[in-house]
Amino acid sequence: MNIAVLCSGSGTNLQAIIDSVRNGYIPAKIALVVSDEGRAYALERASNAGIETLILNAKDFKSREDFDKEIVKNLKKRNVELVVLAGFMRLMSPYFVKVYKNRIMNIHPALLPAFKGTHGIKDALDYGVKVTGPTVHFVDEKLDHGPIILQKAIEVKDDDTEETLLERVHKEEHVIYPEAIKLFVERRLEIEGRRVRIV
Ligand code: GRF
Repeated sequence: MNIAVLCSGSGTNLQAIIDSVRNGYIPAKIALVVSDEGRAYALERASNAGIETLILNAKDFKSREDFDKEIVKNLKKRNVELVVLAGFMRLMSPYFVKVYKNRIMNIHPALLPAFKGTHGIKDALDYGVKVTGPTVHFVDEKLDHGPIILQKAIEVKDDDTEETLLERVHKEEHVIYPEAIKLFVERRLEIEGRRVRIV
């Protein structure tokens, strides 16, 4: 199966996925890495692994849908069956979600439906929750909303800072994201309504 990873930043999750493909844990090929940010370190990680990259600047497109159409065109050209968002800082258009329905995954650094949005770690810490952790979910039209595939709870410690908590959340992300992708590639995920069953 061909998969694509979309990133905007440092790409530590991309690296975990690259490593999991390389060691055979995920039986798939990363056919393309797309970034909307030319300086994203994720691009270097992809190049180092010999993976094709594509940089698209949102400013070059007149709408979100036009931008997404360009991505979809490139994904189709490479027979991509699963789209993996790994720190991709853009909301997908309804067009993209429809074309790749139940075939787009995202990872969020909090236990959804808590702390949606771009500051999942800081928001959890500021709220004072005692337990938090990453969520892998399918993507629908709403922000951080689609059916949940995997979650991992970790304890928040009294002396945690954003940095220390981020480090522990990331460590778990790098375990559950490859796991969720593996399950999808092996066609072991069944979706019924909001519920995702592992078969
Ligand atoms: C992760 O914390 C993920 O939960 C969020 O964006 C971050 C991406 O980090 N969606 P990286 O670029 O994979 O290091």
